[in-house]
Amino acid sequence: MTTLSSTLQEMSTGLQEQLVSMRRELHRHPELSGEEHETTARIRAWLTEAGVPLRELNLTTGVLAEIQGGRPGPTILLRADIDALPVQEETGLPFASEIPGRMHACGHDFHTTSMIGAAALLQKHASTLAGNVRILFQPAEETASGAKTVIAAGALEGVSAVFGMHNKPELPVGTVGLRVGPLMASVDRFIVRVKGVGGHAGIPEATVDPIVVSSAIVGALQTLVSRNTSPHHAAVVSVCRLQVGSSWNVIPESGEMEGTVRTFQREARANLPEQMRRVVENVAAGYGAEAELEWIGMLPAVNNDAAAIELTDRVARSQGLQVVEAVSTMGGEDFALYQEQVPGAFLWMGTGGTEQWHHPKFTLNEDALSISAALFAEVAIEALQAYAK
Ligand code: NI
Repeated sequence: MTTLSSTLQEMSTGLQEQLVSMRRELHRHPELSGEEHETTARIRAWLTEAGVPLRELNLTTGVLAEIQGGRPGPTILLRADIDALPVQEETGLPFASEIPGRMHACGHDFHTTSMIGAAALLQKHASTLAGNVRILFQPAEETASGAKTVIAAGALEGVSAVFGMHNKPELPVGTVGLRVGPLMASVDRFIVRVKGVGGHAGIPEATVDPIVVSSAIVGALQTLVSRNTSPHHAAVVSVCRLQVGSSWNVIPESGEMEGTVRTFQREARANLPEQMRRVVENVAAGYGAEAELEWIGMLPAVNNDAAAIELTDRVARSQGLQVVEAVSTMGGEDFALYQEQVPGAFLWMGTGGTEQWHHPKFTLNEDALSISAALFAEVAIEALQAYAK
C-alpha cells in the first residue's frame, strides 16, 4: 500500500547520496556562531537549486525558506541550527574540518542537511499543501543568541507550531526520543562580587578576608538545591570560576565568582535568583563583608507541547521508526525561545555515534540524514492539518 509515509521515505532515500555530499561539504567548512557566512551562502544555493523559495529577513547569517502551499492554511516552522564550535577535530575522517580549531562537533551540519532534505521533499508536494511550511536555518545556537535575533527579525510571525531536533549519539539510527514537557534545562548565568578589606597575611584581625567569605558563599550556595528547591523539581547550581587574591602573603581586597543555574520548572527558575541573592548578601554580612549578585537571565527550558509530541510520535511510528522516551538533559537550547511563543516539539534523532556532543572525535551515522528529512517533511504536512484554524 502506498501511504504518504512510504512515498516520502522513498523520495528521501533517493536524496540520501546528495544529502551526504552536502553534509560533508558543511563538515569540511565549519564556521563559528554569528560567522556562518559561507554556510549561509551554501544553504541558499542548495535551496534555490531545489526550487525552494527563500523568504528574506534582515539577517547577517542564517536563512529562512518558505514553501507556499497550493491552498490556504496555517504556517508551520521547521528549525535547524547551523553553527560549529571552537574545537580541533580529531576524527581522522577524509572529510574532516579543513579549518584549524573549528569543528562541527555538535552535528549541526547534520541538522542543516536534514532540513534541506525536508524542504526539498515538501517543495515537491507544495501544490497539495494546505498552508505554508517555513524552514529556518538558525545561526548562533551555541552562543544562545541566534533564536533571539531571528525572532526579532520576524521569523515567527504568523507561525502556529514549531518543530526541531538534536542528534543523539546514544540512540541508534532509526530511533527517535520523545518527551512531553521539559527536555532541556533553562540556562541562566550569575556573577557574585565580594568586597572585603585587604591587608597583611600575618595581621588578619585588621582585614575582612574575601577568600574566607567567598569560600563560605560557595558552600552556602549548595543549599539552594538541597534545601530551597522542591525534591520534585530538578535544579543545578554550579560555580565555575572563582578568582580571589594574587599573592602568598597578602590578603586581597575583593573577589569574584561566576557560574550557571539550570532548572526544568518555571517555578524553580523564578524562585532561585531571590534565594541566591539572600544567601550571597547575608553570608557576606555575617563576616562583615559585602557581596552583590548579578543575575543574567538567558534561556527558558525546552518545554514540549503534548499535542505536538503526540503528532510527532504518530508520524514516526507510521514511518517505522522506533520511538523511545527521551532522556532529558541539563544542557540548554535556544529552541526554547520559540516554544515560549508557539507550541512545539523538540526531539532526539538517533545518530548512533561513539562520542558525546562537543568531543573532538564526535561522529554520527549519515544514514540518519534521509530518515530525518522524511520524518520532518511528514511532521510538517500533518501539522498543517492539525493546526488548521
Ligand atoms: Ni548542538
